[in-house]
Amino acid sequence: MPSTPTAGPTEVRKGLEGVVASETRLSDVDGLKCQLIYRGYPIDELAGKATYEEVSYLLLKGHLPARQELADWTAALAASRALDPEILKLMQLLPFGNPMAYLRTVISAIGLSDERDDDGSPTVLSEQAVDLIAKVPTIIATFELLRRKRPMLGPRPDLGHAANLLYMLRGETPPAEHVSALDTYLVLLAEHSFNASTFSARTAIGTRTDLYSAIVAAIGTLKGPLHGAANRKTMEVLQEIGAPERVDAYVEKTKADRQRFMGFGHRVYKGEDPRAKHLRRTAQALAVSSGEPKWFDISERLQQRVFEAKQLHVNVDFYSASLLYYIGIPVDLFTTMFACARMAGWCAHVMEQAADNRLIRPLAKYVGPRDLRFVPLDRRSAS
Ligand code: SDX
Repeated sequence: MPSTPTAGPTEVRKGLEGVVASETRLSDVDGLKCQLIYRGYPIDELAGKATYEEVSYLLLKGHLPARQELADWTAALAASRALDPEILKLMQLLPFGNPMAYLRTVISAIGLSDERDDDGSPTVLSEQAVDLIAKVPTIIATFELLRRKRPMLGPRPDLGHAANLLYMLRGETPPAEHVSALDTYLVLLAEHSFNASTFSARTAIGTRTDLYSAIVAAIGTLKGPLHGAANRKTMEVLQEIGAPERVDAYVEKTKADRQRFMGFGHRVYKGEDPRAKHLRRTAQALAVSSGEPKWFDISERLQQRVFEAKQLHVNVDFYSASLLYYIGIPVDLFTTMFACARMAGWCAHVMEQAADNRLIRPLAKYVGPRDLRFVPLDRRSAS
């Protein structure tokens, strides 16, 4: 059915700010009320209560799993955690550069080895989604072990999603408090409507490409400092500041230099990010149990001073930084933790877009020159 001719583009909404691009049943990000719901559940109903296994099932299947559904889902994730020997061999040959670029490359390689990559049916998309959700922690932990030249550790069948990631990174069973903190983090960052990386994934799958291409697009988008890399940059700021009494000077200088405060501000939330309070509470508890409260203390003072100076609220990345640091995640792996969490949301959006697809193709308002005449090369002068 040819689309109806549209009048030339009129109003430009840079960054698609305020544009409603499609409908979704996955989540609602209410910028005015500063509320977030996943499939009808307010985030306050899930944070600290539901596991990442339950929330990833909720996002992909549409309801919280009953006992047997959860057992089957958990078994399916456990069965998919290990990496194929061919992929492991390739991983040893890759440069250990930017962890997000490494993750993007390995996901691409997994897609290259999947003969069903162009199947696109809901059943195959769902199987590929479970596989990627399960494998991302193993990829990240294996990257860390390879670059540190430490012995390879495979996932343990007796450990859940968050526990396995910490176990594979450390080589020992992680403390329950750390597992619970990471699980809460993964739940809170699992899904967030049409954020930039999710929208990249939906745009890609909208052409009926494969899931891997859509996820690679999402990872590449999340890698940017205005999006997923803000958690790492926030931790680097906390380390640069180094002590609560140096926060004021940092804020003054950053403001004077008209630089961005990492972990602050949001395109949609006009107040505090509803996830922040759960991350703050978790980071605060870890600060006490770790015996090294300074990272949380610096965070608290920074949050207050930036709000006083710029009326900016913290976003999801701010308290994520000290939380991830306290549970021993290497700072340059912080953004890959975000990818671990968001893999469920990305895959759910890919499946939703594929199930009711319309090619995503916005208009642009042309503001360049018109009616120029061709000039042969020998008569052209350097401009
Ligand atoms: C995530 O979209 C999502 O849902 C994303 C996310 C998710 O779960 O997927 O929530 C995750 O990406 C959170 C955001 C992480 N990024 C950062 O923390 C980087 C720092 N924050 C910003 O750069 C900024 O706040 C954005 C990018 C997050 C949002 O920017 P907008 O909506 O494009 O706002 P803007 O750049 O137009 O800024 C509006 C004004 C400007 O002032 P003026 O230049 O007009 O005087 O607010 C200022 C900005 O300078 N401003 C900031 C600021 N954020 C906005 N000033 C200093 N520091 C900041 N952090």
